[in-house]
Amino acid sequence: MPSPRKITHTGGPAPVLEGDTETAPLPEHAALVERLLDWFQSNKRPLPWRTDYAPYHVLVSEFMLQQTQMDRAAVYFERWLRRFPSLADVAAAETDEILKAWEGLGYYSRARNLHRTAQTLMRDHGGSVPDDLHALRALPGVGEYTAGALLSIAFNKPAIAVDANVERVFARIFDVGAPVKSGVASGFIRRMAQALIPEGRAREFNQALMELGALVCAKKPRCAVCPLQGFCQARHLGITAERPVPGKKSGYTSLEIVSGVLVHNGHVFIQKRLESGVWAGFWEFPGGRMEEGESPEQAVVREFAEETEFQVRAARYLGLVRHAYTRYKIAMHCFVCTLLPDATGQIPGLGSSAFPKPELHAATAYRWIEPGDIESFTLPAGHRKLADAWFPELLRL
Ligand code: ADE
Ligand code: SF4
Repeated sequence: MPSPRKITHTGGPAPVLEGDTETAPLPEHAALVERLLDWFQSNKRPLPWRTDYAPYHVLVSEFMLQQTQMDRAAVYFERWLRRFPSLADVAAAETDEILKAWEGLGYYSRARNLHRTAQTLMRDHGGSVPDDLHALRALPGVGEYTAGALLSIAFNKPAIAVDANVERVFARIFDVGAPVKSGVASGFIRRMAQALIPEGRAREFNQALMELGALVCAKKPRCAVCPLQGFCQARHLGITAERPVPGKKSGYTSLEIVSGVLVHNGHVFIQKRLESGVWAGFWEFPGGRMEEGESPEQAVVREFAEETEFQVRAARYLGLVRHAYTRYKIAMHCFVCTLLPDATGQIPGLGSSAFPKPELHAATAYRWIEPGDIESFTLPAGHRKLADAWFPELLRL
């Protein structure tokens, strides 16, 4: 087996990365790169943006791939392109249309950044994606990784695009003995990734590394079918399970929240979130965090009073929706609520209209909608789950 230059200490109980300077490619690295490129040629997934690598297509794909799996991204990509065939269409769209097309992908700040990036490109770059690192890095939502991915994949320029897949592959092949996010490991991986880019083939090389990490050198590596097994130090040493070295734990925070679907006259109440904070501008059912010592029922009644000044009661418990959002693991108690009549049996604030008017304190707009119309509103992930799970039932009532 060709033996890549040894860069780590692996014998002791607490491996450390010794030197991080020896990243010049050796002759056997050329063979490694060739094997990788050959493998990619016959194993790459056919993706809609892998046909002509149009910069706009690569831009959209990379924004989507920042947070979602490849197969999901491909579905959203096709839909996005039907809706926004060009950068100009993205730039001209309303925020609501952008969010609607992104709904379900999560991390909506990415969608907002893509929108703003499109507007910046129309305004400052004649409607095209620049092939220059500094111009790219100045765009909203374009960090080190995305800039490198655009330069290499869209323009075939010799830039690195190191994502978690690439970090894992390098950590194993070169037996990197420190967490990949640590300065020493991260520097080594980036310098190695740069040094290995074959002349004129950055586009394939970077995608091949990512693809290998996604399909073969996954969390649980499939070494038996790996084209690089002959070059891989972790495999050779039998320590693929210990590479990459784990970093700090992610630290999820659990959060218990409540949400109420207020039903009146066959309609449900929704409100539009403020233009700042999480899920800015999304439509939602009122609700929020449970406070210390509160029951879910008490919390939903309090939240309605605070956010709308409606006095409601929690008429029926629908169930629990669980989902994860950024660093949070959320458990959302969902209720059907009804308006509480006053002492005279009237619904306060009703007057002559069929629906009472709220005093909004956490929203910019509200609607009383028919349950069947909920599809056309952009909802936060948890609220969408709520609607999917229980609106069919509400529709039958
Ligand atoms: N293959 C796996 N992940 C990829 C990404 N983010 N961009 C291009 N190709 C990939
Ligand atoms: Fe990853 Fe195994 Fe291939 Fe090494 S041999 S690169 S650990 S899949």
